[in-house]
Amino acid sequence: MIKACIFDLDGVIVDTAVYHYKAWKRLAAELGFDFTEHDNERLKGVSRMRSLEIILEIGNVIKSEAEKEELADRKNRWYVDMINQMQPNEVLPGACEFVQACRDAGIKTALGSASKNSMTILNKIGMTDLFDAIIDGNKVSKAKPDPEVFLKGAAELGVQPADCVVFEDAIAGIEAAKNADMKAVGIGEQETLKEADVVVKGLGEVSVNELNRF
Ligand code: G6P
Ligand code: MG
Repeated sequence: MIKACIFDLDGVIVDTAVYHYKAWKRLAAELGFDFTEHDNERLKGVSRMRSLEIILEIGNVIKSEAEKEELADRKNRWYVDMINQMQPNEVLPGACEFVQACRDAGIKTALGSASKNSMTILNKIGMTDLFDAIIDGNKVSKAKPDPEVFLKGAAELGVQPADCVVFEDAIAGIEAAKNADMKAVGIGEQETLKEADVVVKGLGEVSVNELNRF
């Protein structure tokens, strides 16, 4: 019996990939190489430092740990400048309505995101109060596909993992849900998110009545 829904943020509730992309592209340009939209796919669900390492690999650039910290901070300042301009109308179609419908049906809701900027985004889009628990990149030490972020969400809600459904757009996120012994709804393409129990294009396609059928 499903008692809780746990949502990833980037790519499920909002499309912040475009802002991450702009900031990483600017950093790559400052380092003297190009970073394409195709390469950006590799960064979905991946932590900030791991994303930077992938970018440096693409550009064939080697940096010290201290330099990496500075580069990640620089990228994050540009990213934060952009998300500070976000508006409630940037919420993906049906996302707000579905989270609210879960609450109306007595199903608990949690956020489970790798992003350390989750609170800024939730406040800008006006969705902070729709989640009973918020687990973000500041509260976890192990990146997806480790199940830590989702297990912490379930624990904070007081719900058993088997009674949770996770909504995720990243392969690593679907794996994390499966590693947590939870149901996983993929947001995106079936060919990409093969491990998910079901794949939809967006939260606008899901209804609360279906949750126990996944
Ligand atoms: C999410 C996004 C990633 C991003 C990560 C960390 O998982 O899908 O693209 O790198 O969060 O985000 P942050 O806001 O902490 O840099
Ligand atoms: Mg995501």
